[in-house]
Amino acid sequence: MKNKLKIIAVVQARMGSARLPNKALLNLNGKPVIIRMVDRIKEAKTVKEIWLATGKSKVNNKLENVFINTKIRVFRGDDEDVLSRFVEILKISKADIIVRLTGDCPLIDPKIIDEVVNLLILKKADYASNIIKRNYPDGLDVEAFTKNTLLEADNFAESGFSREHVTTYMHGLHKNKYKKGNFKKASLGYNSDFSHLRWTLDEEKDYIFLDKIYRNLPANASWVDILSYLLKNPLLQFKNSAVVPNEGARDLSSLNFNKFNKSNAYFNRAIKTVPLGSQTFSKSYIQWPKGVAPLFIDRAQGAKIIDIDGNHYIDYIMGLLPIVLGYCDEDVDQAAISQIMKGNIFSMPSKLEAELAEKLVEILPSAEMVRFGKNGSDVTTAAIRLARAYSGKDLVAVSGYHGWHDWYISSTSRNIGVPKNIQSLTHKFNSNDADSLHSLFKKFPNKFGAVILEPAGIEKTDISALKKIRELCTANGVVLIFDEIISGFRINIGGAQREYGVTPDLSCFGKAMANGYPLSAIVGSRKIMLRMEEIFFSSTFAGENISLAASLATIKKIEDQNVIQKTKNYGEALIKDLNQLCNKQGLEEYIQVSNTNWWPSIKFKNIPMQEELFITLLRQEFISAGLLIGSTFNLCYEHTKSKIFEETLSNFENSLIAIKSYINSNNPSSFLKGNLIKKTFQVRK
Ligand SMILES: Cc1ncc(COP(=O)(O)O)c(C=O)c1O
Repeated sequence: MKNKLKIIAVVQARMGSARLPNKALLNLNGKPVIIRMVDRIKEAKTVKEIWLATGKSKVNNKLENVFINTKIRVFRGDDEDVLSRFVEILKISKADIIVRLTGDCPLIDPKIIDEVVNLLILKKADYASNIIKRNYPDGLDVEAFTKNTLLEADNFAESGFSREHVTTYMHGLHKNKYKKGNFKKASLGYNSDFSHLRWTLDEEKDYIFLDKIYRNLPANASWVDILSYLLKNPLLQFKNSAVVPNEGARDLSSLNFNKFNKSNAYFNRAIKTVPLGSQTFSKSYIQWPKGVAPLFIDRAQGAKIIDIDGNHYIDYIMGLLPIVLGYCDEDVDQAAISQIMKGNIFSMPSKLEAELAEKLVEILPSAEMVRFGKNGSDVTTAAIRLARAYSGKDLVAVSGYHGWHDWYISSTSRNIGVPKNIQSLTHKFNSNDADSLHSLFKKFPNKFGAVILEPAGIEKTDISALKKIRELCTANGVVLIFDEIISGFRINIGGAQREYGVTPDLSCFGKAMANGYPLSAIVGSRKIMLRMEEIFFSSTFAGENISLAASLATIKKIEDQNVIQKTKNYGEALIKDLNQLCNKQGLEEYIQVSNTNWWPSIKFKNIPMQEELFITLLRQEFISAGLLIGSTFNLCYEHTKSKIFEETLSNFENSLIAIKSYINSNNPSSFLKGNLIKKTFQVRK
């Protein structure tokens, strides 16, 4: 539309945003937010001049500096009375129509600006905008008004709110609270409602979202282009409403509030209906200094986790090890979402079962055939049944932890509810000591059908013992099963079996194979696995497709990005530097971090107090420093990025300083702020 009216756009912005300081100058894929915005406004055909309206106070100097030697005019006026800034600009610019934009809209769309301006002119309105009846995404707000409308508003808008928000008197949307004018208004709507979308910049999560848009789309992409991109990548928009930033605009360490009111209150609720208040022993309150510890988690992203009170932590538990890439890994979650769109459980297998089986056969030395389960316990139990069926012998030798089912748990101290005659079928040995197995074979000749062990764990594996165990099993007609539920996809893409060059008959994988989606696998030689067709191992959800898709994406990323080596390097550096900190604080006598680079752990020696008390105090201090650590460092790829390493070291050192003072005091228990932890049963010692 041609016209002789002078139309200007005024962007109001300031540096001192409480929620996201300096947001106008945050970097969006190479350029500051405010420049991104101005670049887009320049594309509006109706706009003759662009003005920046900011406050006089010094903090805004930086903002003004951005526009030195540009055509953008900067006006600095009253810090609170933003309306007065518009009036001053009106006087200087002699504009007929003013377009008001706010500096938190880096995806502002020039076409929408033109449409609002043209609507104002066409309808001979006093005020036009797309916010009267909102159906554009939040963050595309455009308001246009005439010179006279602005002058009248200046005369009559009274309250601080009305003057700060400039157009309150014009649109009258808050008429119950604030005075409104009697203007002719025109509303720009859209035929579909997208008002639920959040494209504005207010918080860190918005920043991450917007930065991703700028990284993935041309800087001048229209709002419709952005919409269609989001339709193809729905996760991105979802993350905008749920994200925990890994490396945001702000130092997140300041967000450790150390308040646990909600966790404590929610515990009182949960414990009424959920025994232990948790589905997993090691995630329950008995493992933490209840009262000064998080008991429930709200959300997590990357290597960070946030509890329901809003406390942030670097997480070294990683959901008890399934998370190998990082929480909410985009590639994995995208694969899962794409599968959700197709369906999850079908009436026959999907193609994914064989595709993932083929992948496992390709990477795992012992794998010729594969079956899937949901939990680690599913597949260790399947392996034992298969081994018994194949060997025709009932006794089982175990080393490590293998799940909650009767055949295994009967051998531990938590065996209540397991019939005595089942207990007699399972015998313990030490996988780093082949003689301990040999003795069992001698004691019960030709009775063992299966040996199951964790080939890699916290303790360094004695590879020669592992090789001897392989020989012993072969010589005695015993099926050797590797439980790689922890080591799988962490020590080596081919498991500990590839790392140590010892091939079992069957092996079990779970935890990390789908980055947190529930999936496990039993793999093994064709001749043994074919007996699966005779035994009974069958469940409704075993071929659940979201997890299969997630697993394919997880394994691909682990391979493509050399995740295992990078994570091991991180573990190596962590062990070295954390031990140095223990030395620096004079605590090396009591605390050491072990040298298994893929799974470092904290070892205690000569502790000068009761062990439970020491561990509780340590966890209390870790939590207060923003670290969630059990007795091991469960690593993920995201730990290796950003500033997690430095943050971990400094938080760890702060914890050590506190612990040192407790040790040096006469009464360490007086420093206990929450409940003492209770030991679960220990099977790996
Ligand atoms: C080595 C090992 N095997 C088996 C299991 C049982 O797996 P799930 O808890 O998924 O049943 C676990 C669980 O921690 C494990 O660490």
